[in-house]
Amino acid sequence: MLRQIYALLITFSLCFPAFAQEAPVGETDRSATGGATTLEDIMKRQEGLKVGNEFRSGLTGNPAAAKPTTEQLGTLGGASDPDLWRALRFDSADITTQIQHPAATVLIQDTGMWWLQFREGPLTTYGFGLILVTMGALVLFYLIRGRIRIDGERTGRTILRFKSIERFAHWLLAGSFILLGLTGVISLLGRQFLIPALGPEAFSTIAIGAKWIHNNVSWAFMLAIVMIFFLWVVHNLPHRSDIYWLRKGGGIFGGGHPPAKKFNAGQKFIFWSVIVLGGSISASGLSLLFPFELPMFAATFAKLNDFGIPQLIGLGELNTDLAPHTEMQYAQLWHSIVSFILFAIVIAHIYIGSVGMEGAYDAMGSGEVEEQWAREHHSLWVEEVKAKEAQAGRPS
Ligand code: HEM
Repeated sequence: MLRQIYALLITFSLCFPAFAQEAPVGETDRSATGGATTLEDIMKRQEGLKVGNEFRSGLTGNPAAAKPTTEQLGTLGGASDPDLWRALRFDSADITTQIQHPAATVLIQDTGMWWLQFREGPLTTYGFGLILVTMGALVLFYLIRGRIRIDGERTGRTILRFKSIERFAHWLLAGSFILLGLTGVISLLGRQFLIPALGPEAFSTIAIGAKWIHNNVSWAFMLAIVMIFFLWVVHNLPHRSDIYWLRKGGGIFGGGHPPAKKFNAGQKFIFWSVIVLGGSISASGLSLLFPFELPMFAATFAKLNDFGIPQLIGLGELNTDLAPHTEMQYAQLWHSIVSFILFAIVIAHIYIGSVGMEGAYDAMGSGEVEEQWAREHHSLWVEEVKAKEAQAGRPS
């Protein structure tokens, strides 16, 4: 009934706006907002109707009797303190706190919305877009080129390519990276997709588990990066054969296999991507693991400004006065962006190390590869191995 009266009033007000300004407004049910402004009030104001303020002023009680500091959620009454609120907003309020923490004095961070919007929008869209495009390109490559086969006759002899410590480091790296990727995605997409799909209860259990795995497995990933760095760095230094290998496109589309040492130029790219991007993911990850303790972005931005890099690409000087929360937001974005890029690279690596190339998987499976495979893909390395064997007096 009340609604019908309102509808009539609104219709009437549209016909006779001057009259409507004066129209008395009846009682509104504000229980849904706990007595605060309702959508109905807002709509009425937009219609030009006068909405009384008594329901707000009536709630402020007796200003003189209000004790906001002692009574929790107490009302300030007619008194307010805009200077204090402004100081809180701009982190300059004198906050006495027991907590000795860099972020303890920031009670309001009003510059974080761009981060939230970027995280839920472009980061998710482009991140998964990159992964899908990479997978699509690999499917296309497989359809065009097919599996890269061992061209020559198999010899039946094998060569040791990776020792067990190397294989252990590789699988520690691979296993941890995949687990971190899966659990990271659960954190990234939880609020947007998993809560609506599974409900908050089920998601909470999954999220707690995912976070636990992500935080703890990160150490295995960092250890594996350090291990593969020391195990393989000498084999990944640039060599003049890399230039020829690259000029021949790795022989992927025919023209014979260009000679290569233990790792060819393509593999060196994978290695350095893992070291540099994986190292950067680890650094930003540590910053997230120990909130507010390891801020890195203000210092990095200052260095970049000194080198004039952001100015060169038209970004102007980067802001180096970052609130602790802004530091965390940059760390989160960087961590995710670099992870998506490394994942795309690693997906291509997984393809070539398994279905994409006959005989490749054995190198990381048993550690022993067919000699013919080795001669085709790493001829310079085979020569080195044979020379060493001859020196040691072992028959090949
Ligand atoms: C899970 C599936 C994976 C498979 C089947 C796989 C397979 C292989 C194989 C067969 C090799 C040796 C290639 C050769 O003999 O020359 C290799 C090397 C390597 N893998 Fe993996 N891998 C996997 C995951 C990963 C992941 C997740 C990473 C890093 C995050 C990674 C990093 C490396 C690196 C840096 C090398 C040495 C450089 C290279 O050969 O490209 N692998 N992998």
